[in-house]
Amino acid sequence: MAANLGDIIPAPLSVDPDPGGDFTIDSATVIARSGGSEATSVSDWLAELLRHGTGFALPVAAGAARAGSVIALELGDADSSLGDEGYTLAVSPGSVVIRAAAGAGLFHGAETLRQLLPAGIETAGGRGPWIVSGGKIVDRPRYPWRGAMLDVARHFFSVADVERYIDEIALYKINVLHLHLTDDQGWRIAISGWPRLTAVGGSTEVGGGAGGYYTQDQYRQIVAYAASRYVTVVPEIDGPGHVNAALAAYPELTCSGTAPPLYTGIEVGFSSLCVGKPVTYRFLDDVLGQLAAMTPGPYIAIGGDEAKSTPPEDYVAFIEKAVQIVAAHGKTAVGWSEMAAVPLPSGTGIVAEYWDTSDNGESLRTAVQDDVRIVLAPGNRAYLDQKYDDNTTLGLVWAGPTSVETAYDWDPTSYEVPAGQVEGVEAPLFSETLTTMSDIEQMAFPRLPGIAEIGWSPQSTHDWSSYRLRLAAQAPRWEAMNLDFYRSPEVSWPAG
Ligand code: ACM
Repeated sequence: MAANLGDIIPAPLSVDPDPGGDFTIDSATVIARSGGSEATSVSDWLAELLRHGTGFALPVAAGAARAGSVIALELGDADSSLGDEGYTLAVSPGSVVIRAAAGAGLFHGAETLRQLLPAGIETAGGRGPWIVSGGKIVDRPRYPWRGAMLDVARHFFSVADVERYIDEIALYKINVLHLHLTDDQGWRIAISGWPRLTAVGGSTEVGGGAGGYYTQDQYRQIVAYAASRYVTVVPEIDGPGHVNAALAAYPELTCSGTAPPLYTGIEVGFSSLCVGKPVTYRFLDDVLGQLAAMTPGPYIAIGGDEAKSTPPEDYVAFIEKAVQIVAAHGKTAVGWSEMAAVPLPSGTGIVAEYWDTSDNGESLRTAVQDDVRIVLAPGNRAYLDQKYDDNTTLGLVWAGPTSVETAYDWDPTSYEVPAGQVEGVEAPLFSETLTTMSDIEQMAFPRLPGIAEIGWSPQSTHDWSSYRLRLAAQAPRWEAMNLDFYRSPEVSWPAG
C-alpha cells in the first residue's frame, strides 16, 4: 500500500492529498531534469536509488518532458518564499514533479519522494508496486541549521562509516554534520608541519584501541560526499580543554614542557593548552588555517567546553584569539555555549551551541546577551549518546536516560531565546561507549528523526501521538537499509 501523502519525517509544511492522483513508477517511467548542473546531480542520485530499488531502466533526460510516465526534477522558477531548501512535490497520474529554487531544495524533495515509496525501494530489485499517493506537498524548513554531531575522537570511525551516517541523516533533511575531530583521547585530522598530532595523538582511543585519523584527502572526501547530500561539514578542534592528545604529541604545547601520557579513559576537564605561549597560536593558526582551506562551508568550530583546567582569564584570552584566527581565515566561529562568557563580536554570525540541561542556563543567557546565533542541543533532549532507558547497554547517563518521546517532545521556543536568534537545533553523538557503526545507529535511531523534525517542521505539526505512528512506519525502511535501531517499547513497531 502506498504511504499517505505527507506521512514522512520530518512532517512537511503543507500537504494537499488528491485521492485520484496516484502515480505509479513502472518500466516505462523516465526522469526529466531541467535547470543546470545540480538538477543533473540530484537527478542522477535519485535515478540510481530508484533503479537499484525497482530494477527499472529509468533513463534521465534533459528537458521538461511531460508525455508518458515522468518524474520531473525542475530547478529554478520556484516559489521564492520557499528559500533554497524548500520545494514543491506534485503527484498526479502522469507525473511526479519536484520543483525547487536551489539544489538543496531539489534534493530534499527527492528524499521526500524516497520516503513516500515502499521500504522495498531500499533493497536491490525490491517488491513494488511503486505507488506514490496523489496530491501536492509544499515544504520548507523552520530553521536553517539542523545538525548532527559525530565524535570521531573518543572512538575513531572510518570514512565509510561517516559517509553512511551522512546518508542516514540526509534522509531526514539534516543539513549540518558537526565533526568532533579532536579530544583528550585522539587527534583525528592530519595537519601539515605537525605530524605527531596524528602519529602520536591519533594512535589510540577510549579503551586503548588503535584509533586512527583522516588524511587531508580523506577529510576532503568526506566534505565532498556531504556536499553531494547538501550537508555542510562543520569541523571542530576542541580547545583550550579536551586537548590531551595534542599535548601528548607536542610537549611544547604544555606549560610545563612535559608531555602527558596518552589517555584512553572517559574523564573530562583535566587538560589545557598553555594560553600564554606564542607556540599555542602558531599551532592554532596552522590547524584552523589548514581546516579552513579544506572546508567549503562557512564555519569552523573551536570547542570551548569544559575548560576546567584553564584559568578563567586564560580562557577569555584563548577564545578571543581563536575567534579572531577563524575570522582571519575567512570563516565564522562556532563554539559550545560556555564560550559566550567571553564578549563576542556581535553581528558576525558566530554560533553558540547550547548543550546544558536547564531551560535557561547561564551560558544560554550570556549567549543571548552576546547577540550571537544560538543552536539548541540540550543535553537532556538532543544528546543521542544518552541511554534510552535503564535497559540500554550503550550510552551515558549524565543527562539521561532520554526516551524517544523526551527527545522529540520539546519546542525550541520554550528556551529563553528571542525567536529570531535561534539558528536551529543539533543532535550530538559523543562516542565514549560507541565502537561500531551499529552502535552509532542504535543510539541515533529512532531519536535522530525527532530532532530533525523539530528543526524542520512547523510547530503546528508537532504531536507525539501521530509522530510515533510515522516513526513506526520508518522501521521497514531501516530494516531494508540494514540500519540498526533501538526498538523502544514506546513505539508500536510493525512486526519485522
Ligand atoms: C559537551 O558535551 N561537552 C559539549
